[in-house]
Amino acid sequence: MRTQVGIVGAGPAGLMLSHLLHLHGIESVVLEARSQQYVEERIRAGVLEQGTADLLVETGVGERMKRDGMVHHGIELRFGGRAHRIDLSQLTGGSAVTIYAQHEVIKDLIAARLAAGGQIVFEAGDVSVHNFDSSAPTIQFRENGTATHKELTCDFIAGCDGFHGICRPTIPTDALTMYERTYPFAWLGILAEARPSSEELIYAYHDRGFALHSMRSPALTRLYLQCAPDEHSDNWPDRKIWDELQTRFATLDGWKLNQGPIVQKGITPMRSFVVEPMQFGSLFLAGDAAHIVPPTGAKGLNLAVADVRVLARALTDYYATGSRELLARYSEICLRRVWKVQRFSWWMTSMLHRFTDENAFDHRRQLAELDYVTTSRAASQSLAENYVGLPME
Ligand code: FAD
Ligand code: DHB
Repeated sequence: MRTQVGIVGAGPAGLMLSHLLHLHGIESVVLEARSQQYVEERIRAGVLEQGTADLLVETGVGERMKRDGMVHHGIELRFGGRAHRIDLSQLTGGSAVTIYAQHEVIKDLIAARLAAGGQIVFEAGDVSVHNFDSSAPTIQFRENGTATHKELTCDFIAGCDGFHGICRPTIPTDALTMYERTYPFAWLGILAEARPSSEELIYAYHDRGFALHSMRSPALTRLYLQCAPDEHSDNWPDRKIWDELQTRFATLDGWKLNQGPIVQKGITPMRSFVVEPMQFGSLFLAGDAAHIVPPTGAKGLNLAVADVRVLARALTDYYATGSRELLARYSEICLRRVWKVQRFSWWMTSMLHRFTDENAFDHRRQLAELDYVTTSRAASQSLAENYVGLPME
């Protein structure tokens, strides 16, 4: 088998890259360890930056998002029993975010790739990458769980296989520097068949910890609460979850969260991680394979999409002109955004969670930060411009 760009992983990074390359006449093959059904049902993020939503529309995969996605012009920060709205659109000259589930984006991208004759190999087993210090790298894999080994020869490999993938660990460790921070908490996330309790997202800071109110549709609420890092969702019967959520979202004027049957429950760990550089020879890392952000800023999916925009542009330039200049600068261009998004995600996380090692001073400082960010135009504008997404370089 031969293609121009071999892509490992059919998450947002791998599928969007394949789609963008196709629009520029560049061939790719996507190898995915899981089944199509699994990746189309995997529940993850839900907030699309303005630029991500625009890209879906501009590249012809935004129809369902335009129909089913919910455009939000503001978010609420809730603390001290009071609600404070950040008017994203007013503070950013008209930008907004769109609430549209990651697995729906995945469905739209897979449908577009298959309709255009694109090749996605699902359930690819034992995927391994080779010779990427040369100009003829290869990817070996087994198709559909069979014992037959196949080899895909390409010009370039894109490692879009997430944090636990095989591409990053295959690069010699002395060629990479890793930066990491872990947090002393995780999120317990639920999906409930309940009408959203507010038209907008609510990020709540409470003495008992952080809570987040989001949604997926007019009938489905997505909720998260800060929990211990080693927590198991079995320790959280539905009743306990609702009680805790009601407590953390409570306001002085008696606001109540709508409840309903919980149809999904899961724990999301919290980590900040960056690898530098994001490339080695003809292997390019994109998305979670190269960096992880804690979810408080709603950036993971958006950052993955930003990386592959840069990579698609560099590959397009290479195939059009033969110049490797943009390819050589891939990592440098991506990392400028990556570190700014890391800063924002760390800042939102630090401002909104209770830390086990914090003292009374830290607690008062956090409250002052929330007070500042909700009363100063300069501070709320800084939050807003990061939340709706920094411009692409
Ligand atoms: P992924 O989506 O992880 O895609 C990688 C793909 O590679 C997967 O399909 C995987 O099956 C495949 N793969 C892995 N290994 C191999 C292999 N060896 N061979 C072939 N294929 C392989 N972000 C937020 O902003 N908000 C959230 O609420 C949020 N919740 C999350 C919940 C969970 C449980 C997780 C894991 C992440 C969450 N994120 C969230 C982060 C966000 O979903 C990711 O940043 C985003 O999915 C990154 O996209 P990606 O394409 O880089 O990686
Ligand atoms: C959602 C997830 C996030 O991490 C976030 O910051 C906002 C919303 C969500 O799943 O809807």
